[in-house]
Amino acid sequence: VAEDGLNAWLRYARLPDNIIRQVEIPSSIVSLNSTETSPVYVAAQELHKGIKGILGRNLDVTHQIHNSRSIVVGTVDAFTTTSRKTDAPALDEDGFWLNTKDSMIQILGQNERGALYGVFEYLSKLAQGNLTKVAYATNPSASIRWVNQWDNMDGTIERGYAGLSIFFKNNTIVANTTRIAEYARLLASIRVNGIVVNNVNANPILLSEENMAGLGRIADAMRPWGVQVGISLNFASPQTLGGLKTFDPLDKSVVTWWHDRTDKLYKHVPDMAGYLVKANSEGQPGPLTYNRTLADGANLFAKAVKPYGGIAMFRAFVYDSQNLREANWKDDRANAAVEFFNGLDEKFDDNVVVQVKYGPIDFQVREPVSPLFAHLQQTASAIELQITQEYLGQQCHLVYLPPMWKTILDFDMRVDGEKSVVGENILSGKRFNKTLSGYAAVVNVGQNTTWLGTHLAMSNLYAYGRIAWDPTIDEVAVLQDWARLTYGLDRKVIDTITEMSLQSWPAYENYTGNLGVQTLTDITYNHYGANPQSMDNNPWGQWTRADHNSIGMDRTVWNGTGYSGQYPSEIAATYESIETTPDDLLLWFHHVPYTHVLKSGKTVIQHFYDAHYAGAETASSFPKKWASLKGLIDEQRYEEMLFRLEYQAGHAIVWRDSIVQFYNNISGIPDTSNRVGNH
Ligand code: GCU
Repeated sequence: VAEDGLNAWLRYARLPDNIIRQVEIPSSIVSLNSTETSPVYVAAQELHKGIKGILGRNLDVTHQIHNSRSIVVGTVDAFTTTSRKTDAPALDEDGFWLNTKDSMIQILGQNERGALYGVFEYLSKLAQGNLTKVAYATNPSASIRWVNQWDNMDGTIERGYAGLSIFFKNNTIVANTTRIAEYARLLASIRVNGIVVNNVNANPILLSEENMAGLGRIADAMRPWGVQVGISLNFASPQTLGGLKTFDPLDKSVVTWWHDRTDKLYKHVPDMAGYLVKANSEGQPGPLTYNRTLADGANLFAKAVKPYGGIAMFRAFVYDSQNLREANWKDDRANAAVEFFNGLDEKFDDNVVVQVKYGPIDFQVREPVSPLFAHLQQTASAIELQITQEYLGQQCHLVYLPPMWKTILDFDMRVDGEKSVVGENILSGKRFNKTLSGYAAVVNVGQNTTWLGTHLAMSNLYAYGRIAWDPTIDEVAVLQDWARLTYGLDRKVIDTITEMSLQSWPAYENYTGNLGVQTLTDITYNHYGANPQSMDNNPWGQWTRADHNSIGMDRTVWNGTGYSGQYPSEIAATYESIETTPDDLLLWFHHVPYTHVLKSGKTVIQHFYDAHYAGAETASSFPKKWASLKGLIDEQRYEEMLFRLEYQAGHAIVWRDSIVQFYNNISGIPDTSNRVGNH
């Protein structure tokens, strides 16, 4: 099982005999255009391995089409040079064509990476016992489908909950890159095409000669899987590593230093994806230090990687964590990104992509979509999601995240009164005519054999890739694909995992932070466990403004921080008024008495009480549900997951009691059901 853990959803478990009997499969695999390190080569190997596992059949792998009874893998171009015909339509970059209707099965990519994606798709259907004959093409919604790792050079991982880094150790790159290649395989299977391997709070030492060579080895391990490597930079490197007097982005010596380093890096990693930069945020250096603009900072890197086709990802997570004062009613961290990027939309080079967290604060259990997506019209943008559950239970709580992501991706921003759905229209690049755009997700896998620290958390990684490919995809269907691939085809197993997963985010929201008040966790240090009092009077601007009578951030234009005015007019009007703000974001936008009556008919305080009891109740049902699967899944995963779920059930009660007591004390308002307080 430990080894299978590393295979995650690529286990290729043997299908039941009654299904195997119905499968007709050609006797050979033909791999076109393949050198040993190319995606088509590993695609053919994967196909061989998968079919062996799923059907118990050992297929020949050849490089030439001898007869029509074969599975042909390659690019469309390579296929047509064999003078055979295909019905494949014109494909976008990384897209593929899959035809299982004819005796010759065609898995053809626009490029080699696309062919590899097609093979994973074919194997996924087979492994799920789906024998329907198909012929279709599919293309990615966006060109950027990256993951980020927040790995430190010493081998620890910031906000990682699955052990030490698979990339770094003792300030250098690990010697054995096997796990790195295995990670790339998983990423390829969900069509992720890029990875930034080190923490956004970046250590300049990554740019030492030795480490640049080490990055070359990481890239070599991931390249066969079509995953391009990028790195996070520390803005002050020319000074701290290079010994220059300054790191001013407009200083000639600084520019030269970065161009030099970049040229050297591309010698080691000729296909490097590019750079990711966190600047002027949470104490990190940046261009503002020298009164230069964020665009000056971003363009410095964009110009350095431009000759190589690289991208400069520049994070929008810029805010001042020193000078926010809660006593000032109008101070609001949520305003920061739009304010900092104000006036810069036309100033960024065309290979800069601004990477924007989904909400304006920081990966909370519920946030409205970042208004910055409506402001970046000339500038390319990508959304930043988080798979590692920093504020969402750190993999000790089951939280299936795609339903939350969907509240963001399906949101229509109505820019200039026109349809501007975040996923379908904006991140696809269509709304503002961008070729570069897309997705990044902070994953933080570690050395743990489950990758993320626990078995069910992997549904989030799986779904991420599928959603980045197609944000309109059904998050329940994706979950069930993952569950079948990971746990087998038993109906009860699939139904139970589906039910628990779909209940998990609403339950977690219920016991950790209602009505858009944010995750009421410990804000100072580890972001884990209930700590409602820490959510005020902190310098980070993650506030609830709870007093004896009222609660919530007033983000209106007429009386508050003005944040609601950062949205396009139709959306701004919706959020400006209490009447039209949905209950689940009420306290994000409005400061109201605890006795304010919601659209549901309950008061805010009674909603807090009831939601916390309901959430903890749902969590307490999870161990029982899981226990009903005993014997239907292997003992090891059964036991390990049961342990986590029992812990979660208990911890949900701690959350519930901490929060309801806190608001009962502060408001003095009793619970109508008499569960809270002294009575
Ligand atoms: C959060 C997180 C930090 C991280 C930061 C970021 O604040 O807690 O650990 O560095 O986000 O995204 O840059």
